[in-house]
Amino acid sequence: MPNQYYLSKETAEQYIKLAKGYDGKFLIDLLKNYLPLKSKVLELGSGPGADLEILSQNYEVTGSDFSQYFLDILKKKKIKNPLILLDAITLKTSKTFDCIYSNKVLQHLTDNQLEQSIQNQLAILNKDGIICHSFWAGNDCYEMKGALHNYHTKDELENCLSPYFETLVLDFYNEMEKDDSILFIGKIHSTKCK
Ligand SMILES: C[S@@+](CC[C@H](N)C(=O)[O-])C[C@H]1O[C@@H](n2cnc3c(N)ncnc32)[C@H](O)[C@@H]1O
Repeated sequence: MPNQYYLSKETAEQYIKLAKGYDGKFLIDLLKNYLPLKSKVLELGSGPGADLEILSQNYEVTGSDFSQYFLDILKKKKIKNPLILLDAITLKTSKTFDCIYSNKVLQHLTDNQLEQSIQNQLAILNKDGIICHSFWAGNDCYEMKGALHNYHTKDELENCLSPYFETLVLDFYNEMEKDDSILFIGKIHSTKCK
């Protein structure tokens, strides 16, 4: 099963070291142009919680991850946000949200799983709901240390997401290298609302 990487203490701690100093402030600043303050946000794959803290400065944020290890870390930090154990593919929750946000999470899904995730995101988004997701840019798809890394092009993301979402932002940005990442921000088409 892919994505075991984040489930064990040893490898989750490896990720925490690797991710030190990185956060999604740039993405969240862009999101603020489209998402009203105090909106209800679900973050997928919160990991060690850097973006959860930044998002919480302006929004009512529910953190989530499919790794209990990360959720336990967040609980130890005494974070006040609701936290749920949630798979980004199945999204089994009875709650609904104004926005679903993820930073470098959905690249761990196969193309089919990404399609399933999008269908399930539509089901838990409120009217005029927004998605804001970042991806690694490129054509590679490989498994390393038990995690799938499925890169995407702008065209692939446009084809996958534009049937359901009006594109507000679809652009490259720099994470570690120039244009190594892509941000999609989209607003649910009114015909796709529940
Ligand atoms: C590259 S890390 C990013 C973590 C965090 N968003 C950040 O920016 O540091 C990927 C995160 O996605 C989570 N993840 C991977 N596959 C997932 C899935 N199917 N459902 C929910 N979370 C998942 C991992 O546990 C990990 O926290």
